[in-house]
Amino acid sequence: MRYPATRPRRLRRDEFSRRLVREHRLSVDDLIQPLFVIEGRDRSEAVGSMPGIERLTVDRLAAEAETIAALGIPAVAIFPVTPAEAKSDDAAEAWNPEGLAQRAVRALKDAVPELGVITDVALDPFTSHGQDGLLDDQGYVTNDATVAALVRQARSHAEAGVDIVAPSDMMDGRIGAIREALEADGHVNTRILAYSAKYASAFYGPFRDAVGSAANLGGGDKKTYQMDPGNGEEALREVSMDLAEGADMVMVKPGMPYLDVIQRVKQRLQVPTFAYQVSGEYAMLNAAFANGWLEREPCVLEALLGFKRAGADGVLTYFAKEAAGWLRG
Ligand code: PBG
Repeated sequence: MRYPATRPRRLRRDEFSRRLVREHRLSVDDLIQPLFVIEGRDRSEAVGSMPGIERLTVDRLAAEAETIAALGIPAVAIFPVTPAEAKSDDAAEAWNPEGLAQRAVRALKDAVPELGVITDVALDPFTSHGQDGLLDDQGYVTNDATVAALVRQARSHAEAGVDIVAPSDMMDGRIGAIREALEADGHVNTRILAYSAKYASAFYGPFRDAVGSAANLGGGDKKTYQMDPGNGEEALREVSMDLAEGADMVMVKPGMPYLDVIQRVKQRLQVPTFAYQVSGEYAMLNAAFANGWLEREPCVLEALLGFKRAGADGVLTYFAKEAAGWLRG
């Protein structure tokens, strides 16, 4: 043979043919922007370990929602920073109709009704111990009592007008219990995005700083409910159970270290599948950008495109606004 029988490089030679044969694309339709919300008026706070990310007061959410919607981003996910005095062992602040999350939902839906709003359903921002559930007298996160509390929380979010509740707690049976309660309340169109395959990851550190749960958690971990990083098949079982219980969409979290899990879920179950590029992934990339070791725009866009190639329908990412700006520009 005097020449290669096939030359894949021919199609790579020019931008026009690279564009023609490109298999996957990232668009603004794929992005969800997380937002941290704080008490107070007309102020914002930087998050030290997440450069460029700010916690905002509820009155500043309207302007933020307008910016995000103008960029074409379909939805935001809100995370309240609960003041220390509102935290308790029973996490009652989680279903306070005047709680930060509930007020944030109302403010966002008033300001920009067409922007989708997602709330996190889990107790960690509200518990004095920083765990996602309620503790029994041995200090174990108890399942069924926690599910009852999560149901109260999800109902109060739906009452406030949220579009999507996203249980991120990993208790057994919570999707079914929440779905049943929402149906009973007449919230038949409140969607459930289940954090089905959420791993006990070391990449959540900056988020726990951002919402102020790190100190409460102390040296504790979440290994008795979040998944073991060594497991892949178990993710399919978790996703299948959540779908059977009424989940509309499922999530794999964290993102980049778990692309294989996203691919398996999408290929085997063929349901709307989301990835969460978590705070540690954001912090890690930003540290490299700040040092001049990596270039910002191409690295962010490549990392996000990787989720699409793996099979994700969308990505929760702290880069959403920035990426939307680049994709539109
Ligand atoms: C709460 C929750 C966490 C994240 C989202 N929801 C933290 C945790 O499970 O400890 C992490 C998100 C991130 O790191 O960006 N259950």
